[in-house]
Amino acid sequence: MTDAQPILARALRREELSKADITALLCIQEPAPLFAAADRVRREFVGDEVYLRALIEFSNYCKNDCLYCGIRRSNPKADRYRLTPEKIIETARNAAGLGYKTVVLQSGEDLWFDTDKLCRIIREIKKLDVAVTLSIGEKTREEYAAYRRAGADRYLLRIETTDKALYEKLDPGMSWDNRARCLYDLKELGYEVGSGSLVGLPGQTLESLADDLLFFKNLPVDMAGIGPFIPHPQTPLAAETAQGHFELSLKMMAVMRLLLPDINIPATTAMETLHPQGRLLALKCGANVVMPNATQGEARVKYELYPGKICTGDAPEQCRGCIQRKIESIGRTVCGSYGFHGDYLKEKQN
Ligand code: 5AD
Ligand code: FES
Repeated sequence: MTDAQPILARALRREELSKADITALLCIQEPAPLFAAADRVRREFVGDEVYLRALIEFSNYCKNDCLYCGIRRSNPKADRYRLTPEKIIETARNAAGLGYKTVVLQSGEDLWFDTDKLCRIIREIKKLDVAVTLSIGEKTREEYAAYRRAGADRYLLRIETTDKALYEKLDPGMSWDNRARCLYDLKELGYEVGSGSLVGLPGQTLESLADDLLFFKNLPVDMAGIGPFIPHPQTPLAAETAQGHFELSLKMMAVMRLLLPDINIPATTAMETLHPQGRLLALKCGANVVMPNATQGEARVKYELYPGKICTGDAPEQCRGCIQRKIESIGRTVCGSYGFHGDYLKEKQN
């Protein structure tokens, strides 16, 4: 901790941190002061309100074969499903009825949903007076432009890792450059862009995690989600462990808050798989967003990116009530507006 103290002090003075500084913060043995600093910066720049986003997992078909992911195309045991456009719209209507102001449409890279189908779904959901976030993978610039014209507001695409060689090993057939291209296209098209990385991938170093944070700062992202890697038994990475990934993810979140003080940082669901209080702890280490599951029925279980996913047996209304109680139990409140990047600071200035 002795080495990290001056770096933390510099971060709190809003001075630039180098890759070596960031790596040193990620190495901290006693992270309590780092977490406290992130919590302070979070309160100052985004306030005590937590933004909720309703997650709708609409298809687990995927053309890709990422070695870490439970719905990779080579997993014959994944029980595939695809919601109809009508069902997706109905699920979004239900989420809006529960008070959500953002709906996140997430799926594997499922080519059944062509641009026309997706744009129709987006247009219908926009009529519900909610912000629409897409999380459907790599597309062409033209496709991204079409979704944007249909009304999509935000897009989530994790870079997963900025270590290009590691990325291309873990995501066979995919190109890191194309993934980065997607993020830059999305930015140029006027989306609020969310990215993020997996923490604890085999072969990943602290230096490369520091590079991830610098990549987010450079883009710059409007949001970034940090997810601990949790090995899925039906994937080639089944023998890996999730040991240490929880705490390292908290550190990543905390350092990210110091580097990008006003962005939206979700307390990811995977955090709660590894720790019963995972999302609340994340909210106390820099996070200000939660994405409760609003998917209905069987699909909740079938959308299994990693094992031990929480709330698979609950209904969307239960999750909505549960998360509100949890958030209020730590003295925070649920925000009733759309929760775009920078809203809090804008409101403070007015
Ligand atoms: N453990 C944790 N997160 C995972 N994801 C995919 N597989 C896993 C896993 N085994 C994450 C990826 C993806 C997001 C939707 O889910 O980071 O971008
Ligand atoms: Fe789903 Fe708590 S968030 S039950």
